[in-house]
Amino acid sequence: TDLNLHEIHDFMIEIARKAGERIVSATPSTQGVGNKKNSVDLVTETDQAVEKLISTSLHEKYPTFAFMGEETYKPGDKLNEAPTFILDPIDGTTNFVHRHSYVSISLGLSLNLTPTIGIVYNPFTSTLYSAIRGQGAYLNQSEKLPLSPPTPLETLNSCLVAVEWGSDRSGNDFAVKSKTFAKLAATKEDGGGMVHGLRSLGSAALNLCAVASGSLDIYWEAGCWAWDVCAGWCILKEAGGMMVDANPGNWEPRIDERRYMAVRGGEGQREVIKEFWSLVEGKFEVG
Ligand code: IPD
Repeated sequence: TDLNLHEIHDFMIEIARKAGERIVSATPSTQGVGNKKNSVDLVTETDQAVEKLISTSLHEKYPTFAFMGEETYKPGDKLNEAPTFILDPIDGTTNFVHRHSYVSISLGLSLNLTPTIGIVYNPFTSTLYSAIRGQGAYLNQSEKLPLSPPTPLETLNSCLVAVEWGSDRSGNDFAVKSKTFAKLAATKEDGGGMVHGLRSLGSAALNLCAVASGSLDIYWEAGCWAWDVCAGWCILKEAGGMMVDANPGNWEPRIDERRYMAVRGGEGQREVIKEFWSLVEGKFEVG
């Protein structure tokens, strides 16, 4: 393409940092905004204000690019091949409301439905993850990811695995999640087999960056959206990680598949993915 990806990347970082100041100085309030779908699907005034701030700046500078954002998405909106900024103004809204600092701005650019630029910024810890497709992934624009050479992924039971409860807490998909969580955590009959640990940290974008960095081995979730994953996906891939479907069998999920499993770089990725898939009982319907 003839787009200047570096210039776009730098601009995205600049506005993510500005938006970060806004988030850090805000008092989280769901008043007058409330929850979207149920009592655990939260949105605050800050989510909406930050989306507006970012989408306005992006539109002024890149008026021909499309935009998709969590707070302005309408059912039926579909991504297409056009250059599209994909934004989650606050990924980890529940954490934000509780003043837990695992929160990020997730801003991606998709081209031909492929994550092409990823910016994930945690304004509370001033941690910035960024990547341009084909050009590597970085922490704070200086340290290359992963942070150290990846050791082989030997077996699933030596992995640190992130999962998320998400906001759907009933029905088939919730059952598939809970059964799999229990299987991952439990000792096998022969006494071995449980994963080193299960984490549920509350920001899909930061989870993907942790897998990219190497501090998580796997992240598995169904129910999140393109804005939760576009930026982190680009960072993950550039760091040598892989993204596959949370449902067994699909090695190449679409960006809007709503089911994802991220695995860090290192030998044995495919084997560990197959091992994980073999534990998934049932099938997610979302997507
Ligand atoms: C949520 C977070 C959470 C994930 C949910 C997302 P939000 O994003 O990423 O970790 O489990 O699926 O919706 O609502 O805080 O922007």
